[in-house]
This record gives sequence, C-alpha cells and structure tokens, in this order.
Amino acid sequence: MITGSNYAQTTIVIKFSHVVANDSPKGLAAIHFKELAEKMTKGRVRVDVYPNSKLYKDNEELEALQLGVVQMLAPSLSKLSALGFHEFEVFDLPYLFPNKEALHRVTQGPIGRDLLSRLETKNIVGLGIWDNGFKSMSANKPIHTPDDMRGLKMRIQPSKVIATQMRDLGATPLTLSFTYAIDSLRFGLADGTENPPSNFYMMQFIDLQKYLTLTNHGYLGYAVIVNKKFWEDLPAEIRVQLSSAMNETTKFANAMAQQQNELDLAAIRSSGKTTVYELTEAERIQWRKALLPVQQQMETRIGKETLNAVTQEVGNSHE
Ligand code: LMR
Repeated sequence: MITGSNYAQTTIVIKFSHVVANDSPKGLAAIHFKELAEKMTKGRVRVDVYPNSKLYKDNEELEALQLGVVQMLAPSLSKLSALGFHEFEVFDLPYLFPNKEALHRVTQGPIGRDLLSRLETKNIVGLGIWDNGFKSMSANKPIHTPDDMRGLKMRIQPSKVIATQMRDLGATPLTLSFTYAIDSLRFGLADGTENPPSNFYMMQFIDLQKYLTLTNHGYLGYAVIVNKKFWEDLPAEIRVQLSSAMNETTKFANAMAQQQNELDLAAIRSSGKTTVYELTEAERIQWRKALLPVQQQMETRIGKETLNAVTQEVGNSHE
C-alpha cells in the first residue's frame, strides 16, 4: 500500500486526462493548474496533462480514474450521470440559470460542494467545478424557432435530460462521445449539435455546420475530480497546496472561459463559414416555452430535492 511517507523523496505525478484541446477553456485551465500546482508544491508534484482524448475517450476515462490509471479528470457534469449520479443532470436543464451569478451560487456554493461530495462512494473526490459556457444549437439549415428543430438528428452528450430536451423539440438525440462528434457530422450520421462557441470553434465545426443560433439554452461545466485513494494517501501539506492551487485555478478558469467563448464566437462570425443567428425577443420566448417543461419531466430522474434546492438558489422555481 502506498502511504504518505512513500512520497517523501519521489516526485508525485498526476496524470490529468481530458478530451478537448489545450487551447479550449478546459485545456487552458488544466495547464494553469499544472503550473500553479508545480510551483506551490515546489516541484514535489508534477502534473502531466493529456488533452484531446489522447489517453482515454470520455466513455473510458471515468473507469481509468476509478482504477487509478490516471489521477485527475474534468468530465462535463453530465457525464457523471454514468456513475449513477443522475442529480448532476440538473445542470443540463434548459433555461434553468438566469445568469452567471446565479449559476455560480450553485456551482461554487454549498449545493455544488454537496453534489461533489457524493462522488466519494465511487472512489472519487471532487475538487471543484469549472465553467465552459452556455450551449447553442447548430445545423446545416437555419434554426430560428423551436419548430425548426423538427426531424433533425442532434449529437448530444450522455444525458437523459438533454435527450428529453431534443425529443421535446421534435429532434432525434444521438448520444456519442466527444471524439465521435466531428465524424458524426462529417459522415451525415448527425445533422446538428449543441455546443458553447469555444468547443464549436475548437472542433472546426465551422467547416461542417452552416448555421449557429445563439439559443444559449444549456450550461456546459466540468467537475474536476481525483482518485480518492490517491488523494487521501498524499502527504497532508501537499493536499493543502494542491487544494489552494485548485481554488485559484477555478477563479481563473471561470473568468477565462467567458473571454474564450467571446473570442471564439467572434472568430466563428469572422470565418464567414458559419452564419451566427441572434434570436429575437419573441423567438427567445418561444424557445423558453418549448423547453421549460423538461424541468417537470425530469424531476424524478434528477431528484426533487436537488431540483428544488437549485431552483430556489437561482430564484427560478419550476413549480
Ligand atoms: C461534449 O461531450 O460535448 C463536452 O462534454 C466535451 C467537453 O469536455 O467539453
């Protein structure tokens, strides 16, 4: 068994695996954490970041973490549902968060901490929640109203909430890991997808999707998680230093993600390849009306307690 004292002389290596590029919000935050962690532990810890599903695809990485083959991940909150924690799908509910401040009261407050602490029964410790941003719909035909979604095959992340959202719009959800998203569009398996501008631009979807409509309907955020046994076996002072590096990184990540999405949206617009459409106020009301029923439909899946706690915190009761 590895104990704290085994680490006295050796460099502690954290393999941090993720599925997006180094210049995406998650990729940049991972590198920021690496730099801070190595500095704050005075080199006793080394963080090796493996981007772009180089080590594991997102349907494999959770198992790798639980087995201890990698020590750190940042899967989207939706993907934790695969471990049986369906309450994390609350973050997928369309139009739940009225603004970033309300969202952060949940992700950075007691509700976020409570949700992360539940992962411990699966040998996982949650260290924080990082933003990417709000997702928008894209396809190869213009999408203005919810009716325009009818008949489209949409690539989604694994989440019953997102699948229900697509079905309510008359679209067909196609659940695929992130690495297959691009091929599903390239080979016509999917007609469209939903992403924040950063992932859309980073994946070069500008070459595959002619229209992007700023529906901003759902949140994409990440749980930064570590293998519990690895974490608990670390010397106490290293755990304190890494926690402090993580807290600083989370602040950096959330400010930077917003900027990165703004920059990437500007780049999508100026590419001339994808037409970006802004909803009119009347259309925005139609989208909200079409998607708000998902909250009631998914109450049992998410759990009434979690849903009520979140809706109360954001001041957006679903009753
Ligand atoms: C997705 O599968 O669309 C995202 O979760 C990918 C990511 O990690 O940003």
